[in-house]
Amino acid sequence: MCGIVGVVGAPSSGDLGEVILSALERLEYRGYDSAGIALVDSLGEVYRERRADRRASVAELRSLDLPSASVGIGHVRWATHGRPTVENAHPLVDCSGQLAVVHNGIIENHLELAEALACRGHRFRSETDTEVIAHLVEEGLAEGVDLLGAVRQALGVLQGAFALAVMAACAPDRLVAARRVSPLLVGLGDGVGVVGSDVAALIGETRDLAVVEDDQVVEVRAGSLRALDAAGVPVTLAPLRVDWDLAAAKRSGFPDFMSKEIAEQPEAVRQTLLGRALPDGRLRLDEMRLADAELREVDKVIIVACGSSFHAGMVAKYAIEHRARLPVEVDIASEFRYRDPIVDSRTLVVGVSQSGETIDTLQALRAARTWGARVLVISNVVDSSMAREADAVLYTHAGPEIGVAATKTFLAQVVAMELLGLYLAEVRGILFPTELEEPLARLAGLPGIVGEAVERSVEVAKVADALAASRDFFFIGRHVGYPVALEGALKLKEISYLRAEGFPAGELKHGPLALLDEGSVVVAVATRSRLWEKVVANIAEVKARGARVVGVVNDGDERTAELVDHVLSVPRTAPLLTPAVDVVPLQLLAYHLAKRRGLDVDRPRNLAKTVTVE
Ligand code: F6R
Repeated sequence: MCGIVGVVGAPSSGDLGEVILSALERLEYRGYDSAGIALVDSLGEVYRERRADRRASVAELRSLDLPSASVGIGHVRWATHGRPTVENAHPLVDCSGQLAVVHNGIIENHLELAEALACRGHRFRSETDTEVIAHLVEEGLAEGVDLLGAVRQALGVLQGAFALAVMAACAPDRLVAARRVSPLLVGLGDGVGVVGSDVAALIGETRDLAVVEDDQVVEVRAGSLRALDAAGVPVTLAPLRVDWDLAAAKRSGFPDFMSKEIAEQPEAVRQTLLGRALPDGRLRLDEMRLADAELREVDKVIIVACGSSFHAGMVAKYAIEHRARLPVEVDIASEFRYRDPIVDSRTLVVGVSQSGETIDTLQALRAARTWGARVLVISNVVDSSMAREADAVLYTHAGPEIGVAATKTFLAQVVAMELLGLYLAEVRGILFPTELEEPLARLAGLPGIVGEAVERSVEVAKVADALAASRDFFFIGRHVGYPVALEGALKLKEISYLRAEGFPAGELKHGPLALLDEGSVVVAVATRSRLWEKVVANIAEVKARGARVVGVVNDGDERTAELVDHVLSVPRTAPLLTPAVDVVPLQLLAYHLAKRRGLDVDRPRNLAKTVTVE
């Protein structure tokens, strides 16, 4: 997803251009296809360089001899409107080339704006929706309005989602930034003012950051921030608590972020559990703006999420229905608000999102709120957009996840779901605080069990060697093993580009079985659950069709191990916690298969870490 950064002033950490490129390097994890930088140089001219060499673009910009500058902006682009070419790479400029803009989001009415601007004599040089912003601001400046005023004027006609930063040769001491929907932060560092899409971009310069809210516009100078709301009234920006440091955003000696983040899973689980139990035995979420009485009124839970977070949401259905005896629906966020869901003030809508910024989930939660629902968010990013808009927040303290494929945040979400189920059960009087002791003790033991699973990477690598020539994978599981199967299949397809589908094991005979042949691999989540015997029967079904079977099998379960061709062994844990353990060998299998194929596991093709367009 696009990432933006802007810096104004004299950074103590190096040349301004270098500071921007370092920030872009830290934004690379969002996934990008082109990148660019614009600076106002010491002659007062706009200097601009862009590259569209996919992942090499920022590195190519690094090799340039950048001029010294007083203000600059940078961008990594993930194309939505216009192909990933140099012409379409940001920053984009006005007719004079002396005003530049970077943008994340989509300007929905760009076609009509561009048509009107062209009639007024503006010349367009890209196929992007963003370029209209540069020309609109250009018009404001031509009328004698200052940069802040000109950006505000432009905002008045823009429709859609955006986080943007604008700089101009005529205003070399400032940047102007604005936001509607897409995330945006501003801050002040040593000698600089900064703007960026997320903490990773700005953390090299400062931890003193603030959140720009919808329809606010901010003038950023070295040493001062001036923010206005949509009506032009000065506002104080909400400070952002930053719980990351620069080291956390680096690989720490691992060959890639994915292996680092898989290894960090025990710690991610431990951190997510930390401080949850109060001395009186009650549970604690991070932020709770709902009274217990309101939670007692809830008669239905709807979980909305995308991708891996959706799979964690599926686990929540089992946890909440079992623990709190509340009916739970799980919805793909991008579908939720386009049907006619039955939502009212007694509905608790739970958004699950690692980033807390995924636009589909954010908009689903906003729709739920307009329909009167109470909104609870499970997010890994403190003060993310979703967290700030929710009635209640449960953070997964997994630390920053840089690899595009979700790993440690999935485990932390599974843990958060169990905590949420217990919390709702307690508030609703289904479980007494003393009855929480046993499930909490099981949770407390989980980091050690996950640690054991993580340490078996070498065993999994051997299975990956044996499967190196396979192309077709089917993942099956039942009960909470079903979301694990879906997650295993998603990991494999996204980082190894192999065909992989997940099914509830009992569904195979209703169709997918027809796809199986001698070349197929079936990965069965066959740990000792209530439905283990049924999974074993499903394994027999697929073996009879000639498929090779890989089984995720509990330690010591010789009977299942003998039935399958390859064993991925895992330690045993409590039924509702098994997804957090059983998924580990599947993450590792995807990792090793992708590595054998020579693929970049951190930045799979066509994918972005945070999806901030619909
Ligand atoms: C898969 C993956 C994605 C995300 C999805 C939701 O490995 O990372 O499927 O899970 O894009 O993202 P969040 O959780 O940030 O809302």
